[in-house]
Amino acid sequence: MTHGHGGRIYEYAEKVGVTAHELLDFSANMNPLGPPAAALVAVWDHLPEIRHYPDARHRAVREAIGERFDLPIDSILCTNGAAEAIDIAIRYLLPGTVWIFEPAFAEYAHAAARSRCRIERLYLSPDANWNWFDVLYTAAVRPGDMIVLNNPHNPTGAMWTRAQVEMAIRFASERRAWLLVDESFLDFRDDEANHSVLSQAVVTKDVLVVRSATKIYAIPGLRFGFLAGHPSLIREIAEHRDPWSVNQLAQRAAAAAYRDGSFLKATHAWLARERAWVHSTWGRHKGVQLYPPSANYAFCRLADEIPVAKMLNAFAARGMFVRSCANYHGLNDHHIRFAIRLRTDNERLYDAFCSFLAAL
Ligand SMILES: Cc1ncc(COP(=O)(O)O)c(C=O)c1O
Repeated sequence: MTHGHGGRIYEYAEKVGVTAHELLDFSANMNPLGPPAAALVAVWDHLPEIRHYPDARHRAVREAIGERFDLPIDSILCTNGAAEAIDIAIRYLLPGTVWIFEPAFAEYAHAAARSRCRIERLYLSPDANWNWFDVLYTAAVRPGDMIVLNNPHNPTGAMWTRAQVEMAIRFASERRAWLLVDESFLDFRDDEANHSVLSQAVVTKDVLVVRSATKIYAIPGLRFGFLAGHPSLIREIAEHRDPWSVNQLAQRAAAAAYRDGSFLKATHAWLARERAWVHSTWGRHKGVQLYPPSANYAFCRLADEIPVAKMLNAFAARGMFVRSCANYHGLNDHHIRFAIRLRTDNERLYDAFCSFLAAL
């Protein structure tokens, strides 16, 4: 069973005739340690505030983000998840063409299509370790276009250093194009400072960075993200958006979460252990080509003789929901991506995989 996005847990539960809580969702990449207790307490404590409109200035949460990332607060625009940040950026800047490295998160193209921008797809290849360098330099990017770069890259797990992303910044600036860098999964890295271009984005008028709180803090149902860029650009974009789209409880939860350094530390420790475990299991299996996970999801190409659609249905019958990558541009039905979860869940999935193969 396949579908366009990960995380469509209610639709999926309906299809297989169970409740959403009975499913183990490996299709959306949420931090299994979350939501942080501090965020839940903040939601509870501030519940009475839903009688009022949310703070349209997003003051408290921008201060928390400013401290966490060392950013001036006027360079931050809060959004209803990273998806809204992507939508707002494209809708306001209205690029002639949006250049997308495929395979890619589908919302880049959806947002471009909603704003009636042209879409050009640049295909990344496993033979080049999914790198974008060569493909970008041959692209006919024109003034007023936008290039979208996702770091770490979903679904492949490829990742680039800050110096490498700066090459894309220079390229975009020479072409007088915009660069939108989606860093939605970068909080999962304890070395994020070596990869993030947040500090460059806030001093440059043609670079915007997208961040998400939904994945790292496991609040996809509450939703929170932000866009970071030059204060003058952020001010202009803010004037052209719905001022109420970030609800008060999301603001309170995100503010508390961004101040919770120990939660981030615990997340990094858990993920280091589980990534090592994924390497030692999936990574050693002869039917699996595992691309080294850089964040909290694993991306694999399965051997041709494995009937993948049948396998995903077998997982579903055991309550486990895994993302087929068949509908990504540039991938096929032998590519799968699954979230890295707590050890018992990770073991359950790997056991299901091994028993499915054994029964073939
Ligand atoms: C690369 C990437 N960016 C952004 C998003 C959107 O995140 P949010 O839930 O914060 O809107 C996703 C969601 O899957 C994603 O994979």
